[in-house]
Amino acid sequence: MKSFAKLAGILLSMGMTTATMASVADIGRPAIIPEPQKIEMHAGSFTLNPETRVYVDSASGGTAAFLTKPLRRSTGFPFAIDEASIPGASITNGILLTTANAKTNLGPEGYELIATPDSVVIRAPSQAGLFYGVQTLLQLLPPEIYCSNRVVNADWQAPCVQIEDWPQFKWRGLMLDVCRHFYTKAQVETVLDAMALHKLNVFHWHLTDDQAWRIQIKKYPKLTSVGAWRDGVGFGLASNSTTAYGPDGRYGGFYTQDDIRDVVAYAAARHITIVPEIEMPGHATAALAAYPQFSCTGGPFVIPQKGGIFNGIYDPAKKETFTFLENVLTEVFQLFPSKYVHIGGDEVPKDTWKNSADCQALMKREGLKNEEELQGWFIRRIEKFVSAHGKTMIGWSEILQGGLAKNAAVMDWIGGAEKAASTGHDVVMSPTGYCYLDQYQSQDRSAEPHAIGGFISLQKTYSFEPVSPKLPKQYAAHVLGGQGNLWTEYIPNLNYAEYMIFPRECAIAEATWSPESARNWEGFEHRLQIHEKRLDELGINYRHNSKDLGKSASTR
Ligand code: ACM
Repeated sequence: MKSFAKLAGILLSMGMTTATMASVADIGRPAIIPEPQKIEMHAGSFTLNPETRVYVDSASGGTAAFLTKPLRRSTGFPFAIDEASIPGASITNGILLTTANAKTNLGPEGYELIATPDSVVIRAPSQAGLFYGVQTLLQLLPPEIYCSNRVVNADWQAPCVQIEDWPQFKWRGLMLDVCRHFYTKAQVETVLDAMALHKLNVFHWHLTDDQAWRIQIKKYPKLTSVGAWRDGVGFGLASNSTTAYGPDGRYGGFYTQDDIRDVVAYAAARHITIVPEIEMPGHATAALAAYPQFSCTGGPFVIPQKGGIFNGIYDPAKKETFTFLENVLTEVFQLFPSKYVHIGGDEVPKDTWKNSADCQALMKREGLKNEEELQGWFIRRIEKFVSAHGKTMIGWSEILQGGLAKNAAVMDWIGGAEKAASTGHDVVMSPTGYCYLDQYQSQDRSAEPHAIGGFISLQKTYSFEPVSPKLPKQYAAHVLGGQGNLWTEYIPNLNYAEYMIFPRECAIAEATWSPESARNWEGFEHRLQIHEKRLDELGINYRHNSKDLGKSASTR
């Protein structure tokens, strides 16, 4: 305590006010993001050295590799792995990862980590928990542990601690829009690595939109041969803002089914589930540029090079439209093991359906009073198909229009959580005011790269509560969690995407993992100073939390 008080005194003497200063308790804590549920600090430290061994049970070798890879790279020590002989209570100079004798009440993602001067023991009921324990151990060590080269003369100490940790929410997500701009398979995997660092577990892959269709569907090859490419990068951006050009010079790209399988496996190894999004009935211009026969007008459709809401919407009056969508979804179900499949459902302009005699006749036949009810009818029909295949449909707030489908979950971006949860539906929270990572990070736009508009500071994102104080308590159990969304209209490359994602997604990771009682802004800001060094070591771009450094990170 004495040294904390001394440090606080020094900070005060440096002119830091109490408003900007982390509390004394924060100063003494290891800089773990997201903050663990329970952490006890003890005297002393555990130090890595060339003889430190890693002990694992036979089922946990894969998880151990996620520890030894960065440890070996940065320290240069061998970290021999001992799978055969798990030592009993006393380990010297070793790290033990095991599921044996783990406390089952920690849950499927929880873990216990005990660091003493002799050893670090991580126990978890499942590999996911063990993996998160490994992430915590890495964060207990100096940030240079993430360095991709050997660091000489470092003092590889982790403080002695006892941690019990588990997530507050089971959906801790990030959405990436790969349609407005294309990110390669390798770039998506880079994003997944950064998610794993933050114990995030759902990657929502926005794969289809007006501006592109990015997933190979074997039955409909034109979806990608036509739908994945446009004449220019668009959005008023310079042609050299991206390298995603095909051999014919057109802008775009897509993922083959082999690519998708690889990315799904890469994510699974990091305990991340990928939820694919196939947009319907709107945001479908790229699909209809390829197959205009599934529209009301017959087209032609031109893939737009700008943002907005377009009239590329499917025709619900043709049974062929549903055959097409069901065939697409069937291939999607085979590629993604995820229980949830996102079907979009947002921002559907209704004038095309208003002007279509066939849609009006369908509405009359089905007793639908207006086009909102037609949207509800469309979504419910798709939901039946999704459910019949053992999956759960999730869609944006607007799927509530015209009556919510029976087993659907709602992703709330503009409201609807209470309505959905009060009628027994699960919800994922991604409200625009907190979680829209495409908005400016500073009010001084001149100091920021071009963004879509708005302003969401890191502090605002940090105040995100997945269970909104406005939601009556009895519905809280329906809130699965939350996620940040990166729409990429003005974000044509990975460096720029990372700048928009971090550190606001670090805040979302904490909002969805840590209990409210363990969260406070000053403590987070304080821990972020160390965390920024980790991001530096990992080569992850981010906006410095210090105002003055706002634009120091390149977005090209
Ligand atoms: C959305 O931002 N249109 C879901």
